[in-house]
Amino acid sequence: MSAFAPRADGWMDAHWMAFTGNREFKANPRLLVAAEGAYYRSEDGRRIYDGLSGLWCTGLGHSRREIVEAVSRQVRELDYSPAFQFAHPLSFELANRIVAKMPSGLNRVFFTGSGSESVDTALKMARAYWRAKGQAGKTRLIGRAKGYHGVNFGGISVGGMVGNRKIFGQGIEADHLPHTQPPLGSFFKGMPDQGAELADELLQLIALHDASTIAAVIVEPFSGSAGVVIPPVGYLQRLREICTAHGILLIFDEVITGFGRCGEWTGSAAFGVTPDILTAAKQITNGVQPLGIVVARQEIHDCFMNLGGPDYMLEFPHGYTYSAHPVACAAGLASLDLLERDEALARVKTLAPKFEAAVHGLKGARHVADIRNYGLAAGISVAAAPGESAKRPFEIAMSMYAKGYYVRYGGDTIQLAPPFISTEAEIDSLISALGDSFNTTA
Ligand SMILES: Cc1ncc(COP(=O)(O)O)c(C=O)c1O
Repeated sequence: MSAFAPRADGWMDAHWMAFTGNREFKANPRLLVAAEGAYYRSEDGRRIYDGLSGLWCTGLGHSRREIVEAVSRQVRELDYSPAFQFAHPLSFELANRIVAKMPSGLNRVFFTGSGSESVDTALKMARAYWRAKGQAGKTRLIGRAKGYHGVNFGGISVGGMVGNRKIFGQGIEADHLPHTQPPLGSFFKGMPDQGAELADELLQLIALHDASTIAAVIVEPFSGSAGVVIPPVGYLQRLREICTAHGILLIFDEVITGFGRCGEWTGSAAFGVTPDILTAAKQITNGVQPLGIVVARQEIHDCFMNLGGPDYMLEFPHGYTYSAHPVACAAGLASLDLLERDEALARVKTLAPKFEAAVHGLKGARHVADIRNYGLAAGISVAAAPGESAKRPFEIAMSMYAKGYYVRYGGDTIQLAPPFISTEAEIDSLISALGDSFNTTA
């Protein structure tokens, strides 16, 4: 369809768009029609730099030939195979490849179709694990303020973003740790050196509920969607110690931090702390196909296998029609190949200090209230317009789009996650355009 082809009135009405201000969007559509490398092409023919790698998922850049070919080949060969009671070889191959990238001890991979599904799978796995061990009372789940764990009922219950759950009624039983975001104006580069003691709040929750009622604690190694909140030095270690001491599973939600964004295969490796269960999605397939994973310690997996009973019975009655979808597995294998071949982790590590210096150069620009960063991720808190905390981030993102840059606005923040393949010049130009957009926003 050409750029300005006339369309019938109401052409956009039928699609109720996800996480979008539908009324605003349909009045001012932003349609992307193609993508290559670090750029989209918009319907009106402009190149748009992909400043958030899609939704944190296309670090290798768009339209990578190897992934396109792997997916095309797989669609021709085996477009679908039942996820239950039958399988195809690619899922076993991919599981082995994933395990090789995981922290030692995490070696059993359960496939899902998304980050949200991975989170709810991990939460169910944690509860069922304790039940299998004869501790059926351990059901309580603990998340964290500002945490984002997708949109399913488990995820929004442990999640700490009120806006994502207040209209949906009763969730599942969950409690929350305080967030670790330093006060606005701290402008920490990388990991804050203060705040590790916030992990001790878990001891208060244990005192309140008793460990015998708590199944798991789930946190993102760094929170992405809340505006890039980086763990203080020592914080995750402390959480690990407390969970171990009290027999509580620790789940890392690595849907954003996994597969390169931190300059390591996992946030766990970057921050030096190993959880019991790890969730990931997004970058595994470079965003080309929907795929999520839950990776568990072998002892957790074996506990299900050792339940007894006839071996044709299901050990974990859970899964999705699209678990280990063959086309998604093909995309995953090709993406892992490219992450290795491109030396993407090394590239992220090289770019990260330059990105950090560039993004912190925005300190002093109009409305910039704070800047946080790690690896190739940054969140910029925007001082609120009176009574309208979400308005300026929206206006800044729209001003960026008009200039040819896609950045994400969420809550009171602007979020950046440049593709791993970016050049330094592209990062400089992104930040310089952003400074201009901040300074020209009322
Ligand atoms: C940490 C985290 N968990 C879960 C999700 C949900 O993933 P999905 O949108 O694939 O369901 C996200 C998405 O951004 C995320 O950042």
